[in-house]
Amino acid sequence: KRKIIIDTDPGIDDAAALAIALNNSELEVEMLTTVAGNVNLNYTTENAKKILDFFEKDTPLARGNSLPLLREYEDASQFHGETGMSGYDFPESSRQLLSEHAAVEMKNRILAAAEKITLVTIGPLTNAALLLSMYPEVKDKIEEIVIMGGSTIAGNTNSSAEFNIKVDPHAAQMVINSGLPITIFGLRTTSKAVLNKNDIEEIKTLGQAGEMLYSLFTHYRGGNLETVGLMMHDICTICYLLRPEIFEFQKTYLEVALAGPAAGTTVADLAARYTAEKNVKLAVGIDQKQFRDWVVEEMKKLK
Ligand code: BDR
Ligand code: CA
Repeated sequence: KRKIIIDTDPGIDDAAALAIALNNSELEVEMLTTVAGNVNLNYTTENAKKILDFFEKDTPLARGNSLPLLREYEDASQFHGETGMSGYDFPESSRQLLSEHAAVEMKNRILAAAEKITLVTIGPLTNAALLLSMYPEVKDKIEEIVIMGGSTIAGNTNSSAEFNIKVDPHAAQMVINSGLPITIFGLRTTSKAVLNKNDIEEIKTLGQAGEMLYSLFTHYRGGNLETVGLMMHDICTICYLLRPEIFEFQKTYLEVALAGPAAGTTVADLAARYTAEKNVKLAVGIDQKQFRDWVVEEMKKLK
């Protein structure tokens, strides 16, 4: 079983990624941590609790940073609704959080683990950057960092920057330059990781969990059901852990612009023109049909 920690900002596509990860028997979700992203930290943390309650999981949950390292915080409630998971009436949660900040709780768990842990980030990289800069000793115990973020096509916040990186570009750059194995899924790939109308209608018929996700999907503005489909950006990271052959990768050099109008834009040396150093494994392709079929199969496993 692969041991993972998921750092998340639920978020509708986050909720779907968490649903799959928490219910797949080949993954051991050691802990969830929350960060400010799609909506503020209070909402993302409450949303993470609701998903854990819904699936009756006792996965430890730690609350992370409410603000990016340097930039002013901006949310993405225009895509995910005011609370981040609008569309389904979850009961209030009485779940307890771990007592320390996510970076501290991640460090404790990573250092205590017998095996290496994979860190999956599906929100801004603030918590991950704090973890690696406060506790560099964890690096020996991290197998890989799998990131949803960035774009080497167009952006989804402005013409060039993707949301997770735009919110905290400094944190993203710190993580990408950590020297750890980085696998990164940007919009080039994740905007093709779509579910269409038939897929979500099928998901709706799959019992309580399917109905819950269907309700969220019908309130999600990431994509368009009538045309391109709904973009399941965050699911790509979990799909990669279980079915890497669905994607194509290129090792490359990637850097985050930190200032000026391009702040939060990722630039990759895909044509290998300006540097020989390769610091990431970038997803450059996806088999869309296999992805869709896999997501629907995983949704059938939800309890
Ligand atoms: C990313 O931003 C968020 O809105 C999604 O949850 C995803 O993590 C896509 O740019
Ligand atoms: Ca997310």
